[in-house]
Amino acid sequence: INIGVFFGGPSVEHEVSVITAQQAISQLLKMPGYQVVPIYISKDNQWYTGDYLLEVEHFKDLNKVITESQKVNMVKSNKCAMLIKDPIPKLKSAYVTSVDIAFPIIHGTGGEDGTLQGFLEHMDIPYIGCNVLSASMTMDKIASKLFLKNSGVRVVEGDWFYTHDWIMYQSAIIDALEEKLNYPMIVKPADIGSSVGVTPAKNRNELINAIDLARFFTNRILVERMLVGMREINISVVGDSEKLELSVCEEPLSASDFLTYEEKYVNSNQTKGMSAAKRKLPADLTNSLKKEIEKMAAEAFVALDCAGVSRIDFMIDSQSGLPYINEFNTIPGSLSFYLWEATGKSFKELLEAMISAAHR
Ligand code: DAL
Ligand code: MG
Repeated sequence: INIGVFFGGPSVEHEVSVITAQQAISQLLKMPGYQVVPIYISKDNQWYTGDYLLEVEHFKDLNKVITESQKVNMVKSNKCAMLIKDPIPKLKSAYVTSVDIAFPIIHGTGGEDGTLQGFLEHMDIPYIGCNVLSASMTMDKIASKLFLKNSGVRVVEGDWFYTHDWIMYQSAIIDALEEKLNYPMIVKPADIGSSVGVTPAKNRNELINAIDLARFFTNRILVERMLVGMREINISVVGDSEKLELSVCEEPLSASDFLTYEEKYVNSNQTKGMSAAKRKLPADLTNSLKKEIEKMAAEAFVALDCAGVSRIDFMIDSQSGLPYINEFNTIPGSLSFYLWEATGKSFKELLEAMISAAHR
């Protein structure tokens, strides 16, 4: 089976995607019966393939990656997709290689948000992970919040608005937010991963600055009550809505009140990515809290019709002790393999479970 691993991509999480994909590729290469077709998408959305892309060391210089690999486009053939050198296939000379099943490993915009999945649907290529709707819903902090709330899953109180309204009605928006929520609040762009553009605000001035930063990244902004002294607990789910498994929980350890992009990736060992971030694993939880997190994770995974592996991030309110679903990562950093290893499932078994839950 030729697995087309898509990675890189136009999002701010480009480098993280390279790390996650290389971890998956090196595991897939050890698994008999699978061949990896690497498909690297540059920040400017050009597609490349070739064996040069199979080594993480090569990614120290992205310009070199691009010159050493082959620029390609993907076209549909009978039973598979073909990577071709020329956008108008001159069939004999243009053929490069084919893909039987796609494995999107692009975090955030352009890979985790349903757009790549929509392309794959169009091309009739089976793919691993969430379908179009579940990928786009889970990626969107506003849509997933409204949907989960409607499905009876607890989410933190918050409100949202369009950035074009912010320009017109700034003070009315601030008044409405202050009426509904107490400080501290937390401001989040609706559809960007890895905490990019996310800022806490202790007062009106900070709130305005936080929103002005967030609107640089998106056109819809979510503002939530910030859980003070909260603990973050993450759990991973693999499978689909018919059959799923839950990992042990982890508690990411962070100096500030929330884990920034820098803490997640920049300060940690780049080649290890998410698996090198500081964490308590398994997290120290009472049995009843653990059970509740597991139940909410499974309900949310099913409600949003997820497939493949997701890492669902919870926040525990220190005052009430209640867990809240904070966010979904349907293409989590390192595919959460470290959570599964701690659960007793090897990376190989995790990938096999993801492949068997693929959309065909
Ligand atoms: N969005 C990143 C990769 C994560 O949270 O795992
Ligand atoms: Mg995340």
